[in-house]
Amino acid sequence: MNIYGPGDVTPRQAYVIACGNEKGGSGKTTIAMHLIVALLNTGHKVASIDLDSRQMSLTRYVENRASWSRRNGLRVPMPDHSRVERALGDSVSENENIELAQFQDILLRVENTHDFIVIDTPGHDGFAMRLAHSMADTLVTPINDSFIDFDVLGHIDPDTGEITGISHYAAMVREARRHRRLVDNGLLDWVVVRNRLSSLVTRNNRSLADSLNDLCMRLGCRLAEGISERVIFRELFPIGMTALDELSVISLGVGPTLSHLSARQEIRALLTALKLPIDDVGKRRAQARRLWLENVAQPIDSLDVLAD
Ligand SMILES: Nc1ncnc2c1ncn2[C@@H]1O[C@H](COP(=O)(O)OP(=O)(O)OP(=O)(O)O)[C@@H](O)[C@H]1O
Ligand SMILES: [Mg+2]
Repeated sequence: MNIYGPGDVTPRQAYVIACGNEKGGSGKTTIAMHLIVALLNTGHKVASIDLDSRQMSLTRYVENRASWSRRNGLRVPMPDHSRVERALGDSVSENENIELAQFQDILLRVENTHDFIVIDTPGHDGFAMRLAHSMADTLVTPINDSFIDFDVLGHIDPDTGEITGISHYAAMVREARRHRRLVDNGLLDWVVVRNRLSSLVTRNNRSLADSLNDLCMRLGCRLAEGISERVIFRELFPIGMTALDELSVISLGVGPTLSHLSARQEIRALLTALKLPIDDVGKRRAQARRLWLENVAQPIDSLDVLAD
């Protein structure tokens, strides 16, 4: 089955952001929800899609937001949310096909009616997850600040610190990029974000940052400023709020702290680093990109990813 679709070159209206990493618990859902709220706050029409049919954490986050705001009389912007339901067929491939079909139906519904589509992907490989990666305009990959998480992107020689190979996930992104180029000549901007950074600067996390820079050169991704480890990220989930929502006792249930403000600054820095088409410059860039996609017929080989 061709999971990458029939090769329709009609450019869609929506800009697609996928949050992905095969490592569980790296912060995909947390970052997806913050991006959704950031885009809603700037007046955009946002469709959110939860591809993680087992955990459904993004769905839960959006539901928590709806019930918390209802209970407290808050007016908060909400995304147009959809989720892919877990298929319970007899075989893995049957289930993957069912989930892929659901995902394609959702995409058809929202791709020309919204400005942005934000997709939260599961921490494991699958057809729908691959399609999400191959259609994304921006892929955000959070990684926790440890060499265990680094290994999900690339392998490193413990003695020399040299990168010896790329991981299954990085190879999957490379393949998704290739398919995207063949289908509509589109380019994927892959941004890696270090998450849950410790306030202590150790030799270990300095060398991790150096290795990540090397790896990003090799994979054709960019490294954004990191997000610190902050308890508030865990506390915001049950009430469906984010560091970008109004920081008041009414909206948070408790008084805002310095940590809320610092988290907000870090998320804003991430948004700036992502260079999404949210301001006039970004919109012009997106429009130029759309025109370019309409007019260009042949893929340009020199822009292929750099990995081996
Ligand atoms: N910067 C942070 N500081 C503190 N806690 C965080 C931070 N980022 C995420 N978390 C917490 O870490 C846990 C995992 O985060 P999250 O669910 O966003 O990861 P994920 O990549 O979506 O996980 P999964 O692969 O299971 O879907 C959650 O409890 C979340 O609240
Ligand atoms: Mg998740």
